[in-house]
Amino acid sequence: MITVASAASAAYIVAALLFILALDGLSRHETAKVGNTFGIAGMTLALAATIALAIDRDIEGSGLGLLVVAMIIGAAIGLWRARVVEMTGMPELIAALHSFVGLAAVLVGWNGYLEVENDPHGAEAAHLNALSTLGIHHAEVFIGVFVGAVTFTGSIIAFLKLSARMKSKPLVLPGKNLLNLGTLVVFVGLTVWFVIQPQLWLLVVVTLLALALGLHLVASIGGGDMPVVVSMLNSYSGWAAAASGFLLENDLLIVTGALVGSSGAYLSYIMCQAMNRSFLSVIAGGFGIEAGPSAGGDLGSHRETSVAEVAELLSAASSVVIAPGYGMAVAQAQYGVADLTKVLRDKGIQVRFAIHPVAGRLPGHMNVLLAEAKVPYDIVLEMDEVNDDFAATDVVLVIGANDTVNPAAAEDPSSPIAGMPVLRVWEATDVVVLKRSMASGYAGVPNPLFHRDNTGMLFGDAKDQVTAIIAGLR
Ligand code: TAP
Repeated sequence: MITVASAASAAYIVAALLFILALDGLSRHETAKVGNTFGIAGMTLALAATIALAIDRDIEGSGLGLLVVAMIIGAAIGLWRARVVEMTGMPELIAALHSFVGLAAVLVGWNGYLEVENDPHGAEAAHLNALSTLGIHHAEVFIGVFVGAVTFTGSIIAFLKLSARMKSKPLVLPGKNLLNLGTLVVFVGLTVWFVIQPQLWLLVVVTLLALALGLHLVASIGGGDMPVVVSMLNSYSGWAAAASGFLLENDLLIVTGALVGSSGAYLSYIMCQAMNRSFLSVIAGGFGIEAGPSAGGDLGSHRETSVAEVAELLSAASSVVIAPGYGMAVAQAQYGVADLTKVLRDKGIQVRFAIHPVAGRLPGHMNVLLAEAKVPYDIVLEMDEVNDDFAATDVVLVIGANDTVNPAAAEDPSSPIAGMPVLRVWEATDVVVLKRSMASGYAGVPNPLFHRDNTGMLFGDAKDQVTAIIAGLR
């Protein structure tokens, strides 16, 4: 006989498959929209099955009412934020959302404790005892609360740093790595204690310890390592959700949490490679000092160019590469850039885009903006696909990019960003940099590119300047 529970289990399997298809779809521009649709379908199915299960398990009337009210409030806030958020504000929004997952995991863990460990003769404890899983439950509560609390405070600090409400400079406490490591060792010891003898004070201590660890971990990372932190917290929030899944005996939450946890960890790894940072030291919160502002030094003079000169340069070129960065997002210049691309291509000039893996402020930032402006996918190339082609390129237009095109990373071993793979734009015959001033980029490191003989600086807002270049070309 088909029961609600068995139907919900089947729905969970389908939803899990839809989530896997969503992740697969989201990994390529061409299939991203379909991937998103799979994700929405999976989440709708998961919610429907969970609600049906809650009703079937005879949740009290008031509980169901609360569930509906919470969903309406959550959906309203979600829709409102999604509508008003700027692309440049996405990383901090994501960080804020991760903090909710962390908080939810802490609350689920505490609820698990109050229902079972605190009430050893209650129905839930008897149920777990019959299954001989009470010891496992103790561990789940403790680990879930720990991971959730680290995610909660870590994400709040990431939100404050990314939204510039807090300085992005790393906090450097004496022996900070020892502090982190010591906290982990204490956590393991307390977990063993709690599994043997669950007590309220142990849970209070681990909660406070984890809240402090999350705060310290992220506060001690700064500058250019922040993108990795966001994706790392994404991973933590996945593991926190998986821990809640075990506590709530919800298989879908376990699978989804593991998917988010592992894909977040993998993305962190890829980003570490792109920034030449060590994954382990980012996790240990020991990085970021290197990404602080550098001493600078005299890099020589720079040459200012004009819209007319740039238009002339472009008209005479046969190959152009555009390297966009955070400034293109700030200026919202992507539509103008798409128009410029069309104008140049109509003139028979080859135009391609060079995308650095951490250009902008979130993974895939530039790809999303260019796709929004309908730039054809096939001319948008990853760093490794285009880096060897710069030497044979006539003109490179650097539009609001800075750290990602900094030659010091490749040529100056004393630079704070030494070793970070960058777009070797300086190898082109001519380079034009569109930005408003000589200011440095996110990592606070001066850029010798601006002082090279083959570089012309076109100062001003990227959107205005791109519009002016198009007019000049026409
Ligand atoms: P950045 O190094 O941040 O430089 C952006 C440049 O854009 C600035 O130097 C700024 O110069 C210019 N700019 C700002 N507004 C502009 C406007 N309206 N018009 C024209 N130019 C404007 O950019 P990037 O090369 O994309 O590098 C990204 C950096 O962010 C890396 O250090 C990366 O590690 C970090 N980061 C990345 C991520 C991810 S996941 N992508 C997340 C967080 C941090 P002016 O002020 O002189 O105009």
